[in-house]
Amino acid sequence: MIEMSGIDKSFGNVQVLKEVQFSIQPGEIHALMGENGAGKSTLIKILTGIHKKDAGQIKVNDHEVAYKNPQEAEQDGIAVIHQELNILPELSVAENFYLGKELTVGKAGWLNTKEMNRRTAEVMSHLGLNVKPTTRAGSLSVGQQQIIEIAKALETNADCIIMDEPTAALTDREIDTLFEIIRELQQQGVAFVYISHRMEEIFSICDRITVLRDGNYVGTKKSSESNIDEIIQMMVGRELGDQFPELTSSPGEEKLTVKGLTKRPFFEDVSFSVREGEIFGIAGLMGAGRSEVVETLFGYRKKDEGDIYLDGQLVNLKSPTESMYHKIGMISEDRKTKGLIVDFSIKDNLNLTNLDEISTSTWISSQKELALYETLIKKLDVKTSGPNQAAKSLSGGNQQKVVIAKWIYQQPKILILDEPTRGVDVGAKKEIYQIMNELAKEGVTIIMISSELPEVIGLSSRVGVMFEGKMMTILERSELTEERIMHYAMGGETIGKQQANV
Ligand SMILES: Nc1ncnc2c1ncn2[C@@H]1O[C@H](COP(=O)(O)OP(=O)(O)OP(=O)(O)O)[C@@H](O)[C@H]1O
Ligand SMILES: [Mg+2]
Repeated sequence: MIEMSGIDKSFGNVQVLKEVQFSIQPGEIHALMGENGAGKSTLIKILTGIHKKDAGQIKVNDHEVAYKNPQEAEQDGIAVIHQELNILPELSVAENFYLGKELTVGKAGWLNTKEMNRRTAEVMSHLGLNVKPTTRAGSLSVGQQQIIEIAKALETNADCIIMDEPTAALTDREIDTLFEIIRELQQQGVAFVYISHRMEEIFSICDRITVLRDGNYVGTKKSSESNIDEIIQMMVGRELGDQFPELTSSPGEEKLTVKGLTKRPFFEDVSFSVREGEIFGIAGLMGAGRSEVVETLFGYRKKDEGDIYLDGQLVNLKSPTESMYHKIGMISEDRKTKGLIVDFSIKDNLNLTNLDEISTSTWISSQKELALYETLIKKLDVKTSGPNQAAKSLSGGNQQKVVIAKWIYQQPKILILDEPTRGVDVGAKKEIYQIMNELAKEGVTIIMISSELPEVIGLSSRVGVMFEGKMMTILERSELTEERIMHYAMGGETIGKQQANV
């Protein structure tokens, strides 16, 4: 149905695709995999007319095509959900859903707001998203915004739907709903191209897997005849070995203590304390209030109640600037709005801690700047053409690496990481784990939120588990199992007496 062959593409003098081939059959779910910067998104953008190919052939239903824009591809039955969200935050959910395709009534072409709102509500609830169509899209979580994008693609009645990391920000329940819908449409003959870094997902839903490495086509496997190790091997071209470093830090004095922190309606009476050189994990299902806790702690949100102590001293962290003054750094889950200025170069992003701080940021000599840039970029293996490349032209995962580099660069004493490895490939994940471990060893206190249980268990010395805005328990390293964390994350009661007092 779709057949791409011999695709070449260069940006400037950097070749990012070399003779790549890719095909999709009706009713097939085909995974496209590869490390950050391998060329997945670029291949999709070439298929759908966003980028122009330098060489190669694209056939759709046996006809050669060269779409000039995504609208043309859509008319041919190819819809795409891009990695970067295209939600306009000031518009409502319904306005975003109907953007460019507004329903009108009568000759005058009045907007049929009522019908648009009704239909939007219907589609959203089918996808398990129960928000009012009139809600401002910007007030939704990243995951919820993603669902609007998914809904838009599904609504086009396409024969082929391309999803570039659709689940990166979805809750487990949202992912289940999405998979049900994908399978339903697959039965009707709709094909899917599915890009994701989550191996389990790939093997649970995809029929075939194509792997790219550094812009080269590596191969295509049936998922029933392959396994995770083989795919990783194809992606990175080598054995990865153990994912998680051995925990080498030995936590010192209590560094940060949170007592009775409350921000309604998100969470209530959250208490925990973290020691110097400790990696403290916060687990829980999405929507449990984890991000809100750290955002309030950091001063992005105003707390209702509660006290925060640093080195035993009561502090008032009213704003991110204040937190940074106390050497607290935070990498938030939504890197686009809070982590990275996409129009700036990589170098300038590294020099930037916060929007408010641009004017007052410390001046760093450009030589020092470059040396540090080199170290961090090398350590995190960021695929770039140089320090002056604009952040927005980096691949999604490489943007995340820059955000992490930026905060390490600031040398914080406390580092808060909200889903640090989301959208990051397996090799870089391992690098990030190692860096976290090294920082902890140097005495940095780390608080990490992650939805990936193996990551939480592999890295944390203790884990707080949240459910519906409450800290249900704090587990010691020796107690960490996936079952136990899930038990509390689903609202289970305390197991055993000795944990009753957390
Ligand atoms: N507009 C652009 N200008 C310059 N370089 C670009 C542009 N778009 C992409 N690139 C480069 O092309 C390479 C491939 O990027 P691409 O976004 O296709 O990777 P990807 O496989 O989707 O990675 P990820 O998993 O991180 O999303 C990267 O090195 C990236 O920096
Ligand atoms: Mg991509």
